[in-house]
Amino acid sequence: MIVLFFGDVVGQEATEFLIKRLQQLRDHYRADLVIANAENSAPDGLGTTAWQADSLLAGGVDVITGGNHSWDSPESVLALDNPRVLRPLNLTEGVPGRGSLTLDVGDETVTVINLADACAMKSVRAAAGRFVPAYQAWTEATRTGTVIVDYHGDHVLEKQIFARTVDGAAAAVLGTHTHEATLPLHVLPGGTAFVTDVGMTGPTGGVQGFGYDVFVAGMRSSGNPFEFGIPRPISGPIVLGAVLMEIEHGKTVRLERLS
Ligand SMILES: [Fe+2]
Ligand SMILES: [Fe+2]
Repeated sequence: MIVLFFGDVVGQEATEFLIKRLQQLRDHYRADLVIANAENSAPDGLGTTAWQADSLLAGGVDVITGGNHSWDSPESVLALDNPRVLRPLNLTEGVPGRGSLTLDVGDETVTVINLADACAMKSVRAAAGRFVPAYQAWTEATRTGTVIVDYHGDHVLEKQIFARTVDGAAAAVLGTHTHEATLPLHVLPGGTAFVTDVGMTGPTGGVQGFGYDVFVAGMRSSGNPFEFGIPRPISGPIVLGAVLMEIEHGKTVRLERLS
């Protein structure tokens, strides 16, 4: 089974960029399953609009994952009504959306699990007081068939320890959230693919795909980069943060970056 995974899609331009190429990428790599983290795909970079979720799914994405921005607008909460749109699993009940999905891919069963670390989730109002440690949620999760984890987190150490802990039980632990692609691609001894951060699918030239002027103005004014809010995604050449995995019997046998 060939799986393509795209890291944080940032803004409308990157969303359109990806949709335009999806079918070609699927065909070229003979992909059986395509997963994209779209927590920043909204035109303002905060969340995923329902229209975008529908367009990505119609365009060739099978499962959309999320992160700390999954609840940023009423539109993005609406997108979570779609069972193919995930947000981090590791929360207590009462938060909109779901954190895992089991689906058939050809004659194989795959479970996609979306997790997040405490640092990424610390300022998420929808999840205030509801955070559950990622590993605890993992142990309690239904994990049928081949398991692929989007681990949305800031902490390199936590991501690497989590991947080692579940080595052999997951086919892949793919880091998202920092938007900055990490160079080493690991296939751990038990067959778990691990990437600290897949990197964004988004515009280059800014700060994590966003404009920098507003952040810089805040920093210079008061030392708080968020004083004047969050700028919109910048317009610039799009970088493709994506990896390909070849998975056999729940283990990764090949891991490479798409360029
Ligand atoms: Fe992100
Ligand atoms: Fe994030």
